[in-house]
Amino acid sequence: MGYRVAIVGATGEVGRAFLKVLEERNFPVDELYLFASERSEGIELTFKGERIKVQALNKVSSFSGIDIALFSAGSSISKEYAPKFASDGAVVIDNSSAWRLDPEVPLVVPEVNPEDVKEHKGIIANPNCSTIQMLVALKPIYDAVGISHIVVSTYQSVSGAGAKAIRELEEQVKAWCEGKEMPEAKNLPKRIAFNVIPQIDVFTENGYTKEEMKMLNETRKMLHDPEIRVSATCVRVPVFYGHSEAISVKLKGELSPEEAREILKKAKGVVVVDDPEERAYPIAIEVAGRDEVFVGRITRDLAFEPGLSMWVVADNIRKGAATNAVQIAELLHQYALV
Ligand SMILES: NC(=O)c1ccc[n+]([C@@H]2O[C@H](COP(=O)([O-])OP(=O)(O)OC[C@H]3O[C@@H](n4cnc5c(N)ncnc54)[C@H](OP(=O)(O)O)[C@@H]3O)[C@@H](O)[C@H]2O)c1
Repeated sequence: MGYRVAIVGATGEVGRAFLKVLEERNFPVDELYLFASERSEGIELTFKGERIKVQALNKVSSFSGIDIALFSAGSSISKEYAPKFASDGAVVIDNSSAWRLDPEVPLVVPEVNPEDVKEHKGIIANPNCSTIQMLVALKPIYDAVGISHIVVSTYQSVSGAGAKAIRELEEQVKAWCEGKEMPEAKNLPKRIAFNVIPQIDVFTENGYTKEEMKMLNETRKMLHDPEIRVSATCVRVPVFYGHSEAISVKLKGELSPEEAREILKKAKGVVVVDDPEERAYPIAIEVAGRDEVFVGRITRDLAFEPGLSMWVVADNIRKGAATNAVQIAELLHQYALV
């Protein structure tokens, strides 16, 4: 038996990845409904060789008959429509930040806290992309010896800010190549071509950005560990796909880099690429399009004792968004929770 699945935000970067990932993983879809804004009404997208028309979300009054709704249309749409889909009988898996810290809503990464899906009341939140890849890499180490502190710097691609930010980088680079004046930043806070920007999302009262605070708050929620400390600096870089992270952790017990490497080699969803002498370490352009989280440069940290540092790279649109959400749908199927 298959499911009637809806994608809300189907024309966006994450929405289009949903179509690919559902097909590649052969998720049991009986019917697929695609929603976006009025701008995209009538556009056709392909799923398993079939053309499906996009419907304008605001023109639909009832969502009954949908079993699973994958949302990626931003927070305000999620706040307004996720409860409507849920009350009409669907389980919503939401990619925005709207519900992530709601105590009634499980926040789930299948490699980290799969059992939390069982607590759902109609809405399940998909975490922030940077937090997902960090925790897939750190959870096996957390389980082995414990982690008390995490210091992370991110190098986040423009696709993390949606389709418009990808075009912004393309247009700036094209103008530079043609010797023209580069267009002003519109979707990112500063010019991104040939630059790095230490701001993702808005600043909060304590001087950290919302993106940085997500890495702390979402980590605590998923690990069920209100004591763990996370200090993040989130930076946008001129890369199209793939977020990279330099992570240092303070451990609660001894663990050598060799032991960590062995643990991570056996961990679900993790690929270790770690032979610096051979220039083997994960890089965004090689990880784009993959579903796993790649880890390299695993060393003894020189600041934390005992501690480890590592380099973690994943495709933000796939494991950071679409793949993780489809894996949550697979858990719902596995546990018969739809
Ligand atoms: N990109 C990432 O790495 C990433 C990772 C994790 C989570 N997310 C989250 O996923 C969401 C979407 O991200 P994205 O990168 O896919 O953005 P995007 O490329 O800008 O796509 C946005 C989607 O939302 C739709 N939309 C916008 N306004 C709408 C409205 N009023 N009614 C219905 N649909 C509307 C758009 O439809 P139109 O084409 O018709 O405008 C489009 O399908 C965001 O909440 C983002 O924070 C993104």
